[in-house]
Amino acid sequence: MIIGVPKEIARGERRVALVPDSVKQLVGLGPEVVVEAGAGSSAGFEDDAYVAAGARIVQRASEALGADLVLKVQMPGETADGHEVDQLAEGAALVCFLKPLDQTEITQRLVDRGVTAFSVELMPRITRAQSMDALSSQSTISGYKAVLMGANVLPRIFPMLVTAAGTLQPARVLVVGVGVAGLQALGTAKRLGAITYGYDTRAVVREQVESIGARFVELDLDTGDSEDSGGYAKAQTEEFYQRQRAELGKHVAAADLVITTALVPGQPAPLLIEADAVRNMRPGSVIVDLAAEKGGNCELTQADQNVVDSGVTIIGHTNLPAEVPAHASQMYGKNLVTFLDHLLEEGALALDFSDEITGGSLVTHAGKLVNERLGGTLPLTETETETETETPASEAEGEKA
Ligand code: NAI
Repeated sequence: MIIGVPKEIARGERRVALVPDSVKQLVGLGPEVVVEAGAGSSAGFEDDAYVAAGARIVQRASEALGADLVLKVQMPGETADGHEVDQLAEGAALVCFLKPLDQTEITQRLVDRGVTAFSVELMPRITRAQSMDALSSQSTISGYKAVLMGANVLPRIFPMLVTAAGTLQPARVLVVGVGVAGLQALGTAKRLGAITYGYDTRAVVREQVESIGARFVELDLDTGDSEDSGGYAKAQTEEFYQRQRAELGKHVAAADLVITTALVPGQPAPLLIEADAVRNMRPGSVIVDLAAEKGGNCELTQADQNVVDSGVTIIGHTNLPAEVPAHASQMYGKNLVTFLDHLLEEGALALDFSDEITGGSLVTHAGKLVNERLGGTLPLTETETETETETPASEAEGEKA
């Protein structure tokens, strides 16, 4: 089996699906790995490091895309040589971020091409899949980088300083939406010396916020049963969001840096900070809106722009992991290798569709949409879940788990 790693083509994307260390691990599992020349260079990994790790460098993207199994970071897109999906071998496999809950076009192309496509976003949030969870690994990087980006723009420093030139008050950092990215943001802001506050609708978050020395913000809201079985937040009513915006306003106004990460899977980001609330912040304050790609948690957010309104800067960067490409790629590569270790038997794909990890992350196979979570959301002729087992891999998986 040949595994291909093409260079990413999305604008601003500096990550690569495998770093040399992950190539080495993968080659140890049996397959041959081909990497497009320069695929890792913007993340700091040169071709010779891949060769030393056991990969073969190919000069053309089509050679990497023509492999039996293609690993990418971003979903396939249009290139000068045609769409990447059309360069995949018919019946080949693909693993990458596919945004399957947000778009249907690429999924349809993959169905038409007969590709066996796995979406890393759909990895179930269960203990044995934790090391394969790319949403978590990349969110960790986003949370960290969001603080540094905010700190860079803020006209103040984070720690309290008592100096001969006077006393500097510490920065107040509020994180709204304390999942993986939010928790990392709180920890990073705390390490830099800020006073940290966190808020989330999921009840379990309070303890996590307090355990890293941040304060949990109390809002007069009934969050009730706000977590789904996958650990994600459930959508709230518009009435709830109105009340949340009103309650959150005074905490936003008191903060120097606000980092918002609030998301509900498959939905636009909930609007949590209105323009008026931004205008009540002190000039010089900063909002980093990690939900920008899904429309933003702040009314003034513009995707991939820094907006300045009433002296407040709102940063709407939509791909922060790409700004820390070495470590983001290292973590992503580790996620993929662990996932492939799960999928491969003796160096070849052995798919057990009834397995929670395999079946949960598989989107298309043999010309069909096969994911129950996407059922009804895509304009395809037929939605069905494969139950057939190509090889008796389930027992082996049971041993690994
Ligand atoms: P996410 O990226 O979907 O959402 C970010 C955060 O926004 C979540 O904490 C969510 O509760 C919060 N949020 C949504 N609406 C909100 C609102 N109106 N106001 C305030 N906050 C709001 O979530 P993420 O970070 O991917 O994961 C959420 C949780 O899933 C984690 O905190 C963790 O507990 C769990 N998890 C479990 C894993 C496992 O067991 N393998 C792996 C990764 C995460």
